Amino acid sequence: MKRLALSVSAAALVVANAAYAEPKAEVLHWWTSGGEAKSVAVLQKEFADNGGTWTDMPVAGGGGDAAMTALRARVLSGNAPTAVQLKGPAIQEWYEEGVLADISSVAEAEGWAGVLPASIAAHMKCEGSWCAAPVNVHRVDWIWANADVLEANGIEMPTTWEDFNAAADKLQAAGIIPLAHGGQAWQDATVFEAVALGILGPDGFRKAFVDLDEATLTSPEMVAVFDQMRKMRGYVDPNFPGRDWNLATAMVMNGEAAFQIMGDWAKGEFLAAGKAPGEDFLCASVPGEGFLYNVDSFAMFDVDGDDNKAGQELLAKLIVGPSFQKVFNLNKGSIPARTDVALDEFDSCAELSAADMQASSDGGSLLPSYAHGMALRGAQSGAITDVVTQHFNSDMSSEEAVKQLAAAVANSL
Ligand code: BGC
Repeated sequence: MKRLALSVSAAALVVANAAYAEPKAEVLHWWTSGGEAKSVAVLQKEFADNGGTWTDMPVAGGGGDAAMTALRARVLSGNAPTAVQLKGPAIQEWYEEGVLADISSVAEAEGWAGVLPASIAAHMKCEGSWCAAPVNVHRVDWIWANADVLEANGIEMPTTWEDFNAAADKLQAAGIIPLAHGGQAWQDATVFEAVALGILGPDGFRKAFVDLDEATLTSPEMVAVFDQMRKMRGYVDPNFPGRDWNLATAMVMNGEAAFQIMGDWAKGEFLAAGKAPGEDFLCASVPGEGFLYNVDSFAMFDVDGDDNKAGQELLAKLIVGPSFQKVFNLNKGSIPARTDVALDEFDSCAELSAADMQASSDGGSLLPSYAHGMALRGAQSGAITDVVTQHFNSDMSSEEAVKQLAAAVANSL
């Protein structure tokens, strides 16, 4: 009898420990620029305010390439971080390796299915269960500009690629760098996909970078995309190799350069530096139709310990919570993933993003970004980016580039 009483109370203690464990999380992310650091601080604060202990694992390097290498090393050594910034099909790839935790209980308790657009929710599911939590919707196909530089040179935001080239030629003649760019593979890919959306149109983009259709990859329109990339190469300054994206944004801020083609994390950078949209800097979607989305999200890795599990549950809950979705995205430059967060405190670029996203969703031109890992698995997107970068950094002809593109994609399948 005595023995039984003892074991019952021991069991009760274990249950109590699980329920009251102090939430802990080691969080791997690549948010290290000024605007990004301000944004992730919002999550760190909410986590701490709710009793959580956060161990930061930032891995510098825009676009997340270095972060993904660091993640692989940690998982291989049997020491995965608790929560990881992960997105697109990489979520399902990690799930297939059997290392992700199921966060369906949080998703169901918090009613995620009712507040997230179906297209975003689909990225967060692994065989029907929830395996990631979305923080935002970034738009990739933006052009940013220095308002004073454009005004002083009598230039309007371009609405066609011909306009863009004419503006760039004029700026170059006036001694201004037309395009602020950092020569890193993911930045080359970002410019390339924005140009491709404009020239191929939404259907052509989908055929090329979602369906990997060979005829589209080798079409005359794709040759024209590489022709425009060759023009772009002529509009960057000689110091572009290796430059970080936020340093390129700074060149637009200080008037050294006129334009940058970059996702709206660049807006987070302008805002963190105290710049105002419409006054100091301008935003416009790149010439053409459509909307390239890039949804940041966090996946939880299977780790032991009630404190870690409590940390994962708390993080997932906070990330999709309405207060975090508002404050984080005000800083990050993106818009909330939740559809029920009022946008009245957001600026005109965010309003344009939300309106265009809705219109593109209704019109069938809402498309996943290939350059930011939303459209394809790593092997395929990597194969495309290799060709884009090789073309940008050599004198390869556009005809040769499309041949190599089709061959690289075929080899990666
Ligand atoms: C991420 C953004 C990040 C940007 C630059 C993108 O892939 O989605 O959150 O700010 O890379 O690092």
